[in-house]
Amino acid sequence: MREDPPSKVLSYIRELYAPEDALLQRINAVLKTINMQIQVGPEEGRFLQLLIRMAGVKKIIEIGTLAGYSTIWMARGLPEDGTIITLEAEPKHAALAREHFAACEVGERITLKEGKAADSLRELDGTGPYDMIFIDADKIGYTHYLDWAEKNIRKGGLIVGDNTFLFGSAYEDAPLDGVSLEAWQVMRRFNERLADRSNYLSVMIPTKEGMGVAIRASDAQKTL
Ligand code: SAH
Ligand code: DHB
Ligand code: MG
Repeated sequence: MREDPPSKVLSYIRELYAPEDALLQRINAVLKTINMQIQVGPEEGRFLQLLIRMAGVKKIIEIGTLAGYSTIWMARGLPEDGTIITLEAEPKHAALAREHFAACEVGERITLKEGKAADSLRELDGTGPYDMIFIDADKIGYTHYLDWAEKNIRKGGLIVGDNTFLFGSAYEDAPLDGVSLEAWQVMRRFNERLADRSNYLSVMIPTKEGMGVAIRASDAQKTL
């Protein structure tokens, strides 16, 4: 949970580079009232926008909508004809997100699919290729979502995974309290796969929660 006040350096970055408009502020306030402050930070939202522009992204899949905070950052980074499909299993979160998308000036770019991500992805299989996937839902699903991404994201497309530190557990020999062994095994495997230079040009950004960023290598990039 992101309850601690931001550090001085983070506040400085946020004020300079990632100011939030009224809608994003409203979403933060709503998440505070329901004690679910697990959205990305504004600087991460801005970073996702930058990635979208750098890679010429037009079609995005997001796994894990919550109240739509990261979705709106990404939708705003898209070109006019860009689209984002966001997947959410929890009806209460989906309902909140829908309200926020209705209030968003680029809401027409966003489609919310309610239901378990694995089911939605099965339906979406073959509807790509997509340019980007942002994985930010149940941690035990991460390798499954990566399997889907490998099939459905174009060469040179972006794969981004949030929480790749797994709340401080990923780089420990065993999961810390509150993290299951299965989640630990899955996230370790996810990170090892993303770090495989024969498949990806990739790195992990040391955000508070860790963010894995990869582009699917084309054959020409495999020597990098
Ligand atoms: N990306 C959001 C935060 C997502 S939090 C942001 O940064 O603003 C993770 C969300 O994933 C929660 O809303 C949770 O309900 C949802 N979730 C968990 N397991 C899921 C699953 N199997 N399928 C779809 N959504 C899931
Ligand atoms: C949790 C989930 C997230 O995606 C996140 O960024 C932070 C916390 C959680 O489940 O606690
Ligand atoms: Mg997250």
